[in-house]
Amino acid sequence: MAELLKIENLSIHYKISTGWVYAVDGVSFTINRGETMGLVGESGCGKTTTGYGITQLLPSNAYIKEGSKVIFDGTDLVQLSTFPSKKFEGYRKIEEYHPEMRKFRWKRISMIFQGAMNAFNPVYKVGDQIIEAILTHENVTEEEARKRVEELYKLVGIPKDRIDNYPHEYSGGMKQRAMIAMALALNPDLIIADEPTTALDVVTQDRILGEMARLQKRENVAMILITHDVSVVAEMAHHIAVMYAGNLVEKGTAREIFKETAHPYTEALLKAFPSIKGEKKRLKAIPGSPPDLANPPKGCRFAPRCPYAKDICLEQEPPVIEISPGHVTKCHFAEELYGELGGE
Ligand SMILES: Nc1ncnc2c1ncn2[C@@H]1O[C@H](COP(=O)(O)OP(=O)(O)OP(=O)(O)O)[C@@H](O)[C@H]1O
Ligand SMILES: [Mg+2]
Repeated sequence: MAELLKIENLSIHYKISTGWVYAVDGVSFTINRGETMGLVGESGCGKTTTGYGITQLLPSNAYIKEGSKVIFDGTDLVQLSTFPSKKFEGYRKIEEYHPEMRKFRWKRISMIFQGAMNAFNPVYKVGDQIIEAILTHENVTEEEARKRVEELYKLVGIPKDRIDNYPHEYSGGMKQRAMIAMALALNPDLIIADEPTTALDVVTQDRILGEMARLQKRENVAMILITHDVSVVAEMAHHIAVMYAGNLVEKGTAREIFKETAHPYTEALLKAFPSIKGEKKRLKAIPGSPPDLANPPKGCRFAPRCPYAKDICLEQEPPVIEISPGHVTKCHFAEELYGELGGE
């Protein structure tokens, strides 16, 4: 499969009055065309920062560390739209308005934002907002854009006569479907979906995710599915990347993550969520809480909560180990623990 996105050593830190928040530190992964990658981890571990870091839609206090690469279809988006910071050595600042970057955002990489339920402007009709997005980026007439919205509504399962409704006239599930229509409107190569269904009830969530998977296959779009719910990615994702405290701690195929778990954090995360097959098992909350990213622990960031931690874990940052081709884990004891861990 052809490689679409290659992230190398991505580090994004937020400047705050007391220092830095090390939100994303040295994250690397690749995605092929048409593939879905799940990005999972507890709240605050840097998933949204990683996702938005790709298109650099980040708050103004975000800085990208020199050496970070986001290569999308051959172009390094970091080099494209950031410049060396004069204030902070070793960091790059994001340019607020960048004409080249505009060609990538929405048109080639679209996003479903966390909390998308409120993403539509309440004073304009939903359909008009999608039409507007198409007109801004593509050289088409208003009539053609409207026709495209009609097709998209059919695709995502909203009745055509709802195009001229205002956001408040939509149910939560409908708004979510409309967001998916918006994300598909410009035929992107990649969709970054940040907790796209978290606010919905389980039945609607299931249905919408199923539809997303079908659409994605049909349109051959790649997707990064960001969620804290591992059962969601189990069904949807080819590959899964597990984040903890700004680090990518394990990545592999969905099968490898679930059946050949190679990081104690992944094991803990799998135990904390209900099984996808509905098997009865005791859920086990992960003891303690994630570290303050303004002051991450020395050594392995998971060590203070890890039941397998030894002295070295508290002292030295673990290396990234390739346990089998494409299956990597950031743990000092990966080889010893491999085969012993398991969430199910
Ligand atoms: N603008 C900001 N300034 C300072 N710190 C920030 C800023 N935005 C996010 N952070 C911090 O960066 C870290 C990563 O946040 P991020 O939103 O990427 O996590 P997340 O994994 O998406 O969490 P959630 O599951 O809750 O959405 C957190 O510690 C968060 O408090
Ligand atoms: Mg988030």
